[in-house]
Amino acid sequence: MDVIITPTAEEASLVAARHFEVEIRQNPAAVLGLATGSTPLRLYRALIDARLDWARIRTFNLDEYLGLGPGHLQSYHHFMWENLFNHVNIRRENVSIPDGLAQNVSASCSAYEGAIRAAGGIDVQLLGIGSDGHIGFNEPSSSLASRTRIKTLTEKTRRDNARFFGSIEEVPMHVITMGIGTILDARKVVLLATGEGKADAVAGAVEGPLMAMNPASALQMHRRAVLVLDEAAASRLRHADYYRWVDANRPEWQRV
Ligand code: F6R
Repeated sequence: MDVIITPTAEEASLVAARHFEVEIRQNPAAVLGLATGSTPLRLYRALIDARLDWARIRTFNLDEYLGLGPGHLQSYHHFMWENLFNHVNIRRENVSIPDGLAQNVSASCSAYEGAIRAAGGIDVQLLGIGSDGHIGFNEPSSSLASRTRIKTLTEKTRRDNARFFGSIEEVPMHVITMGIGTILDARKVVLLATGEGKADAVAGAVEGPLMAMNPASALQMHRRAVLVLDEAAASRLRHADYYRWVDANRPEWQRV
């Protein structure tokens, strides 16, 4: 794992955005895995401002609430168009987001996996992290080998996400999410975490045991996982000084 610690959330977002900017410039037909939530908002703004060419870029989103159609204001379809896709020249047919209105959920999930495979796999996957360690909506106890499927949100995640809805009761109980196995298949993973609320989950993911109770710890098994953290999210890491040392002494060719 490559742990990068920056003084502020703003800088962390810009560092993570840079990984995507470089990918898009080097590979104009890249396949990107994207996330929603509060964390990537600044990163998406940076990518919009970078005026990149998205004409051949394909994207796959991590997850969607089951029961919410693309027109719902809290759907991740709506989030993605509002915060990124409407502002870049991506082609609608190159955007994939799990179908929250799928009638046959397992067939829809298998088709999603098939579409990722047909696209040649994901080049760079963006992740946030839940305060319980979830990546995508793979809640604690998710199989580390899981594929795209239905999941039931924990009470904690529904409480965390109630801020986007009127109340916790309005937060859907079920979601479709890429599995941890799906995420690990991406050729590179960039996890962005900011704020103290993520500090325990981040510490568990980086320095704790590999375990289904902290789904993000599965990234310990990934060959190219970059974790970009602000000071607050990094505040419970015991080896933070070492990660800073590694970053400060990175060979020129390894810098992004
Ligand atoms: C969103 C997703 C989730 C979020 C996580 C953190 O597509 O997959 O794992 O990244 O819940 O959410 P925020 O950024 O709102 O704290």
